[in-house]
Amino acid sequence: MSNVSCISNIVRLNRLAEPYFLNVRQYRLVTSNYAAFWKSRKVGTSYCHVQNFEGCWEKYMIFGESYSASKNVMVRDMTVIEDFLNEDEERSLHEEVEPYMRRLRYEFDHWDDAIHGYRETERLHWNTQNASILQRVRDVAFPPGTPQLSLVHVLDLAKEGVIKPHIDSVRFCGNTIAGLSLLSDSVMRLIHEKNREQVVDILLKRRSLYIMRNTARYEFTHEILGNAHSKFGDQIIPRGRRISVICRNEPDTTTETK
Ligand code: OGA
Ligand code: MN
Repeated sequence: MSNVSCISNIVRLNRLAEPYFLNVRQYRLVTSNYAAFWKSRKVGTSYCHVQNFEGCWEKYMIFGESYSASKNVMVRDMTVIEDFLNEDEERSLHEEVEPYMRRLRYEFDHWDDAIHGYRETERLHWNTQNASILQRVRDVAFPPGTPQLSLVHVLDLAKEGVIKPHIDSVRFCGNTIAGLSLLSDSVMRLIHEKNREQVVDILLKRRSLYIMRNTARYEFTHEILGNAHSKFGDQIIPRGRRISVICRNEPDTTTETK
């Protein structure tokens, strides 16, 4: 994996000439910086959930047959809130990002990228309605006072696109990843990085919010299944173009220097 990451780094550096890549962080490097990982975990454990999701998880989470790790931990660390957005809010977010996205071309041709068929940006300024939606995301996903990345990551995955298994870089992202799904349902698959038999499928309905933290974020790779493999249990989940709007917290640099 690290070789691939290295190559990916070089490829990305070469691409700095392309203006739309300038401010998109390299979120998707798989890293083996376990020192930072264990330190960041300490932050997460002190956080109390805003909502109680007990009993809801079966609607959006299916454990693979060989899953023998703690289900409670996964239920705690990966939550999905269905219908977090209403249709008007989804449209409003889409309308604000669409003019910019349309100017970019989908990237398909880099074999070593974690994603195929995507375009992406990071956005700081939002209109009033969207800023208040994003504030709602932040309020649900992060405990008060959590230092957060002010730039919001917007990822547009083509109908034919796929996000391959990866772990977000601990250099650029803290213990929590909160993502809104626009335009299409999809299936996110989590697989334990060290024990690939531990598999969990997550149904991400259009307009839902997922919050991935701690164990789910650091110990499991995540991916978005391509249309050909997009199933949740026996149910086929047709995958169209999907835009995700993702808020992250700052990496935990304070504990790293202690
Ligand atoms: C990523 C990623 C998931 C999503 O950009 O690193 O995993 O919901 N995105 O789009
Ligand atoms: Mn990711």
